Amino acid sequence: MALSSHIHNFSVLSVSKTIENGNGRRRARMVVKMAASTSDMAAAFEEGKLERPKWSGQTPLSRLVGALIAFKPLSSVLKLGARQVLIRTAEKGNIPWREMTKEILESDVYKELESIQNPSLVYPDYYLNPFHAYDEGNLSWLAAAEAEAATMSMVRRAIPNASTVDEANQVVRGNWLQAIEQHHLQYSGTTMIRDILDIGCSVGVSTRFLADKFPSANVTGLDLSPHFLSVAQFKEKKIGPRKNPIKWMHANAEDTGFPPQSFDLVSVSYVFHECPERAIVNILKEAFRLLRPGGTIVVSDQSVSIHAYITLEKT
Ligand SMILES: C[S@@+](CC[C@H](N)C(=O)[O-])C[C@H]1O[C@@H](n2cnc3c(N)ncnc32)[C@H](O)[C@@H]1O
Repeated sequence: MALSSHIHNFSVLSVSKTIENGNGRRRARMVVKMAASTSDMAAAFEEGKLERPKWSGQTPLSRLVGALIAFKPLSSVLKLGARQVLIRTAEKGNIPWREMTKEILESDVYKELESIQNPSLVYPDYYLNPFHAYDEGNLSWLAAAEAEAATMSMVRRAIPNASTVDEANQVVRGNWLQAIEQHHLQYSGTTMIRDILDIGCSVGVSTRFLADKFPSANVTGLDLSPHFLSVAQFKEKKIGPRKNPIKWMHANAEDTGFPPQSFDLVSVSYVFHECPERAIVNILKEAFRLLRPGGTIVVSDQSVSIHAYITLEKT
């Protein structure tokens, strides 16, 4: 599948260091790369081709990590240790990880599940594996309660020079929104962004940024985890009503069920590093199907420099 077309423009954003995409250059004739500089905190655009990520090869370190993880008793200890480090690092950076988690777990968030969950949804295999050190992957209340703190940590790591989490968030999300706006202006002119789909919206952080930036648009956040969506809906209710309330949809982004050409903007933010290649291809095909002529697809993800990191993340 060619990612570029005469009708649509395709943006790839990398907020930390390098541009990555596991699909290889065979599928991309022309893409727009965007990089946010951490030093001057400004967005810079650069036209280019997708390159195969350097971490995709088999390095000795990747093989060693793979072997260690495959050894079950060691893997549990590694996961526990990794979790403690993650929480301690976040809290040192003024992200009140345990407090935020407790607040969600002790709230009424559970009541949202019934209205959000699509009981007939069939999960793809990869989604049923343990992930991010949670045995039930993203299908757990603990994962959902910790997701916002984890997102804040990721943003903090991406912008180490920022003095606060808020500042780091404004750089990462601000540059992302600015890139979307500039790209849309450049390629779609005065066409209004009326309908926005946030694929892999998790607990709604990216969705809320989009809704705040484009207040007259109808924004839908879509995710496979009903637990994450419950947190998203619960938080949005706490924030208060908005002119155009965000809709939350429990679905597989590979096959959403929306009619073709339903959206002017489709965002896939920090999702692909969690997906196998076949899911990435399917999600991109679906995103193109859902896009209106002249619309924008925006893909952003974190830079991963070694295969071992991905291996650890996916357990
Ligand atoms: C790191 S989170 C995304 C965070 C969020 N977009 C942001 O920018 O803060 C990745 C999300 O992708 C979701 N996801 C993974 N595969 C998916 C699929 N096939 N369909 C829908 N959501 C998926 C996961 O459930 C998870 O919530």
